[in-house]
Amino acid sequence: MTEDTETLRDRIAAELIAARGRTTLLTTVVDEADLVRQHSPLMSPLVWDLAHVANQEELWLLREVGGRTPLHPEIDPLYDAFEHPRAKRPALPLLAPGEARGYGHEVRGRVLDLLERTTFGETQLTDGGFAFGMIAQHEAQHDETMLATHQLRSGLPVLAAAAPAPAPADASSLPVEVLVPGGPFTMGTSTEAWALDNERPAHVVHVPAFYLDTTPVTNSAYAEFIADGGYDDPRWWTPDGWAHRQRAGLTAPLFWRWEGEWVRVSFGVTATIIPNEPVLHVCWYEADAYARWAGRRLPTEAEWEKAARHDPATGRSRRYPWGDDDPSPSLANLGQRHLVPAPAGSYPAGAAPCGARQLVGDVWEWTSSDFLPYPGFTAWPYKEYSEVFFGPEYKVLRGGAFGVSPVACRGTFRNWDYPVRRQIFAGFRTARTAVAEAAR
Ligand SMILES: [Fe+2]
Repeated sequence: MTEDTETLRDRIAAELIAARGRTTLLTTVVDEADLVRQHSPLMSPLVWDLAHVANQEELWLLREVGGRTPLHPEIDPLYDAFEHPRAKRPALPLLAPGEARGYGHEVRGRVLDLLERTTFGETQLTDGGFAFGMIAQHEAQHDETMLATHQLRSGLPVLAAAAPAPAPADASSLPVEVLVPGGPFTMGTSTEAWALDNERPAHVVHVPAFYLDTTPVTNSAYAEFIADGGYDDPRWWTPDGWAHRQRAGLTAPLFWRWEGEWVRVSFGVTATIIPNEPVLHVCWYEADAYARWAGRRLPTEAEWEKAARHDPATGRSRRYPWGDDDPSPSLANLGQRHLVPAPAGSYPAGAAPCGARQLVGDVWEWTSSDFLPYPGFTAWPYKEYSEVFFGPEYKVLRGGAFGVSPVACRGTFRNWDYPVRRQIFAGFRTARTAVAEAAR
């Protein structure tokens, strides 16, 4: 795909402005007291995110790309995510909300100026507009984190959302699983300009035939696991998972409550769970236990990506399940439009060649895989983006959720988290090896 310089500039500006629009909304719907308060030890105060996105934008665009002198070097350490864990951030002498907004505005004005003067490709950082794309994605990722903070905060609902589209007519007649034939496919990318280091390079992986759930696991299916005593039966849990289930007292997904029926709190609104909606806010241990109870397993990361990208007709891997076009509202539930996952079976136009639906959007999907580098991985442009997280303590999630911006979501995009985490917008689907096909 070639794109002329002006089109690239316009696209970058549009992505930066879109991310800032969402940041602004998420930080103006609550009052100043709520901005500086820590709503959960897992999360930063919203005012930290606000200045941190501006600080990263200044570091990477104004200083690294533009060679400008620092605007406020004294605040850099406050907004370095590695210097201060989230739980410690409220105690820092952070910029007040008005100062944080002013700083963000100051940086952004200069960045838009710099964008007009930048010759793309003069350095690796500006090749294809990479650094600008990285910063747009970074802010979008914090918009997702801030949305998770909103879900964790107590108090009145403040976020307005569009109602999700009803399930399509064929949703109830879909096969429960789809077959992904065995054979090689290309995983990762070497050509996607804004792909991050952990998505690179493209490499061939042989994946034996397997069956994958057509849709993410639903609330009603998950409620059957609970009703069947799934949380009380160590057979379904890994030893670590069972120990965690006991210690943390897990009995249902986060934000679920039993009131004679299962209800769920969603952004301050309590309502009966919607049976055909993908289950949300389960940790990896819960997803893994459910899969075992169902006689199945979580898909590996390679299986997930093959289901989402491999086109058997051409043998090539697509950018997205539906093809190479960017996401749109008719293809996937992304961008914080609805604030809930759409019913299972939605978005037929966004289906993958194998027939699986909602692989991109709706809920992040836990995979069975540890977060590890691809063969030939090179940390770039900084090793704290992903290299320092590689290892067995993190599990990979794929596909993005309703809270994820399209700019931060691709068929190759990799997310990771601890197997105990539940505040992220994560669900899952299950798989099984296709024994006869795999033997061929
Ligand atoms: Fe960050």
